[in-house]
This record gives sequence, C-alpha cells and structure tokens, in this order.
Amino acid sequence: MSVQASRLGIILAGGTGSRLYPLTSMVNKQILPVYDKPLIYYSLSTLMLAGIRRVAIVSTPQWLPELRRCLGNGEHLGIEIHYVVQPSPDGIAQAILLCASLIDGPVALILGDNIFFRTGLGDMLRKAAEVEDGATIFALPVAKPERFGIVVLDDDGRPLRLVEKPKTFVGNHAVPGLYFYGADALELARTLRPSARGELEITDLNRIYLERGDLRLEMLGRGCAWLDCGTPEDLFEAGQLVRVLEERTGIKIACPEEVALNMGFIDDAQFAALVAGMPASSYADYLSVVAGERTRREVGVL
Ligand code: TTP
Repeated sequence: MSVQASRLGIILAGGTGSRLYPLTSMVNKQILPVYDKPLIYYSLSTLMLAGIRRVAIVSTPQWLPELRRCLGNGEHLGIEIHYVVQPSPDGIAQAILLCASLIDGPVALILGDNIFFRTGLGDMLRKAAEVEDGATIFALPVAKPERFGIVVLDDDGRPLRLVEKPKTFVGNHAVPGLYFYGADALELARTLRPSARGELEITDLNRIYLERGDLRLEMLGRGCAWLDCGTPEDLFEAGQLVRVLEERTGIKIACPEEVALNMGFIDDAQFAALVAGMPASSYADYLSVVAGERTRREVGVL
C-alpha cells in the first residue's frame, strides 16, 4: 500500500461551534459522539485511508488538551499527531500558515466536522494523494446548494467558478471540506488577505489554483454520504446513518485502529495489544472480531 510519509494532513478542530450550543459550551465539537465514536475519528480515519501518517490537529488553546487526551501522539496508530494552536477561528486557510513548521511537502486539509462514507473511498483518496502538485478538490450533488460552497462546471465538467453559498442557483455541486494541495500551498496561503467576514478563506486559496489552471476536481458522485455536523440535526442524522450502516453490515465505519491495521501502519501484535488495553465494550468486541478474522484468513480458514 502506498504511504505518503511527507504529506501533512491537517484536521481543523477549532471553531466556535456556536450552532451546537449548549453542547459545545462544555466540549469541543470534534469530541461529540457520532453514534459510537467521537466525531474526530471520522476525519482522522479519512486522512489515514489516504495513506497519511503525519497529522496536525489545529484547535483553540481551550480545546487542544481535550483533543490530545482523545488521540495522544498517534503512536498507537503508527502515525504522528501534532497539536497546533489557533488562537481564534480566523479561517480555515489560516491552519496552513499555523502548521508552517510541520509542512515539508504536500498537504491535505480536512474539516474536523466532516464525515465521508463511500465504497472505494480509500482508493480514490490514495490516488488524489499521489498527485504532489496543484490542488484537488471534490464535489457532489446536493439538494440545497445555497447552504454550501459550490463549484460551477463547464460543459466538459471542468471547474469554472467557485461560489460560496450562492443566493441564486448557479449549480448543485457542493465542495466538501477535504482538499489536497501541493507543497506550494504554504506560499500561496501567505498571499491571502482576510475576507469581508475577517477570515482567511479556503475558497480564496482554491480560486488561486483554479485561476492558474491547477485545480483538479474529483466527483464523489451518487452513493457518497457526505455529512457536516454543524447543527444538532446534522449530528443526530449522522449518528443515525452510522448506526444503521454499522448494524446492517456488522462493519464499523471509521475506527482509526482498524484503518491503521489495514493500512499496515501497525502490525497484528500491536493491534492485539491495543485492543487488549481497551475497556470491555462493543467497540473492543468489534476490533477483537477484526483481529480474529485476519488470523483465520492467514491460516486459510476464511
Ligand atoms: P464552521 O462550521 O465554519 O464553524 P464552527 O465549527 O465554529 O461552527 P459555528 O458556525 O456553528 O460557530 O467550521 C468548520 C470546521 O472547521 C469546524 O470543525 C471548526 C473548524 N474551524 C477551525 O478549526 N478554525 C477556523 O478558523 C474555522 C473557521 C473553522
């Protein structure tokens, strides 16, 4: 499996989470449960599926200790996790500037409240991660384009314009919070100026790549669940979706431990030790089954 050792994966886990008040007055949004695991497990698993082994979690000074307690230094998952302070939520693109000392190659950025579920997602992400220059963004049809950043396509399906929350209809392809950039992202982010709402906008960075003819677009298409958990309704619906999918299939979504094993970031013995250290729970039971199935597959029983 290809591993991108030098690409830094950035998880945006700050923000104010005001729409989730009062839940977010006590906990960081990314620690809130989505059915059976914290929200941040989903974005972390997405980056790991892309083959990324160096991760920076960006959040406010208030919430970083809590996130660190949740994920530690990543050693148990065979990855490196760094924690980077964003003093105040001054925009998603600012995270790239804040991670400057960790960036020594390409970058991937994911919003900590975004969840992706699709068959073949891993392959698609690893392909995107293999491209080391320009930018790759994703798009998928949405029913309410006025709520999202929209990419307007030309007749050949190429990106023509990026429009934030359009008031009149310009298209229905939303751009979710997952972006892959070349090593020049840092230099380009340094040229950004705050928008009217005072933030360094990720759409402005994407627009620079678009204007240079360097913006690739991957269609996530039909059958992709993309959820952003910004409101109580979103969070509740995400939990319901995860529960239904997991119960029907018997397979859990976004367990970082399982992803680490499947990606070869940790070996069977490390995985078994990790599971043995977990409290008795359905999560630990599931991971024990995963370990057992691998062993049986290796000895030819499955
Ligand atoms: P938003 O949904 O734009 O903001 P928010 O989480 O603060 O929520 P609300 O609008 O309800 O106040 O942010 C998307 C994700 O990006 C979210 O997980 C928080 C994170 N974020 C940062 O970490 N730093 C930032 O400067 C911004 C704007 C967002």
